[in-house]
Amino acid sequence: MKLLIPDFCVVVLIGATGAGKSTFAARHFLPTEVLSSDNFRAMLASDANEQSVTAEAFELLHQVLGGRLAARRLCVVDATNLKSQDRAHFVQIARRYHALPVALVLDTPEAVCIARTEARPDRSFGASVVRSHRRELLRTDPKRLKTEGFRRVFVLDSVGDLDAAVVEREPLWNDRRQARGPFDIVGDVHGCFAELRALLDKLGYVVSEPDGHYEVVHPAGRRLIFLGDLVDRGPQSDEVLRFVMDVVEHSGALNIIGNHEVKLGKVLDGRKVVLKHGLDRTVEQLERTSEAFRDRVRDYLRDLISHYVLDGGDLVVAHAGLKASMHGRDSAAVRSFCIYGETNGEVDELGLPIRGDWANRYQGRATVVYGHTPMLEAEWFNNTICVDTGCVFGGKLTALRYPERTLVQVDAQKVWFEPPRPLERRPRPDSDRLALDGLIGASLENH
Ligand code: GTP
Ligand code: MG
Repeated sequence: MKLLIPDFCVVVLIGATGAGKSTFAARHFLPTEVLSSDNFRAMLASDANEQSVTAEAFELLHQVLGGRLAARRLCVVDATNLKSQDRAHFVQIARRYHALPVALVLDTPEAVCIARTEARPDRSFGASVVRSHRRELLRTDPKRLKTEGFRRVFVLDSVGDLDAAVVEREPLWNDRRQARGPFDIVGDVHGCFAELRALLDKLGYVVSEPDGHYEVVHPAGRRLIFLGDLVDRGPQSDEVLRFVMDVVEHSGALNIIGNHEVKLGKVLDGRKVVLKHGLDRTVEQLERTSEAFRDRVRDYLRDLISHYVLDGGDLVVAHAGLKASMHGRDSAAVRSFCIYGETNGEVDELGLPIRGDWANRYQGRATVVYGHTPMLEAEWFNNTICVDTGCVFGGKLTALRYPERTLVQVDAQKVWFEPPRPLERRPRPDSDRLALDGLIGASLENH
């Protein structure tokens, strides 16, 4: 049996005493990856069986788990973990650091657990402890583990399975650190196909349509990245979709999901959605395409991921940006931040979400390139840049050349959609204003 796990996750082992948890952990993971309650008891009381220090041992285990997850290191929790309230701590800590919680149930037969426990010099438990553990374990339905928040659940219910199990680690889908570029990162297109074609010409791409699909080639081997919000408001969302889907499939382009793709995906999934913010236009345009094309779009949008880490970790792209503590991680919170930005659920007088300004506080190593918020100009703030320059509102379509960090822009052909408010420059970050006021030293504590 192959256990496929992300290379950054929390594996919670679940099983009775004698089930073989520590043996399994030692066989498949590094000693530093395994956080064993026995070891923490031994650290505190020089005796792995000393039950009186159990609470303190778990407190330490939780702390080390948090520390390792903050450093983006895989962890295995080696304890019986038979009670849902014990497991809940681990799910909660995993969530806090945006690591995937994985449950691995060692459902070793009772007779085997008892025989092994009785043979162990390091355990004085009798068969009754094993039996009570097994009773507890039987209450743990694998389906229930999913509802507890475990995103992957594996059950090994025979000694043979346990012996044959192979653990395989796979990179997270957002991990494209091997991709070095150079890249051209394109801001929100919103159906402005003519401007997109003009921008690609200006960037030096050769566009062709062999066999009825688009392909792009750049003489310098550059790669396109689309930051999401391909659709809505503009005149040719259907053609922009066709183009981007084709070049992702055939020309190595990358594309992350924007909030407008999320909404469109719901429409194509047959869910009830209010057709506003220009979605009505996309739906109209798609109605003129074939059913096969709409199915292709639906499947494509379903698989889009929300951010990429590129160039050895030096570049992060996400539709609405991403704070450093979420880079290269995966959780519902990370996805929501990537798609909608840092919102607190409040809206302004125009009904638009009020956005927290993570970029003002950003101190991460990676350059973050994003879109989502239309700006009059694309400007750098703390190694982050928003390249949505409101093309569909009559602004510009912008691409950032990376690693050169130069902007290439084309003007909108017209105002395709009236903006809810005029495009503005971005206010200077607090840190800059305070520096101008000579107050930076005094304010550092608040950052
Ligand atoms: P607790 O720490 O008490 O909860 O148990 P555990 O689930 O960690 O079990 P552990 O891995 O310590 O295994 C218990 C005993 O069974 C040890 O003496 C192991 O050497 C033995 N054992 C574990 N796995 C295997 C196995 O696959 N085959 C055999 N023959 N013995 C095993
Ligand atoms: Mg053990």
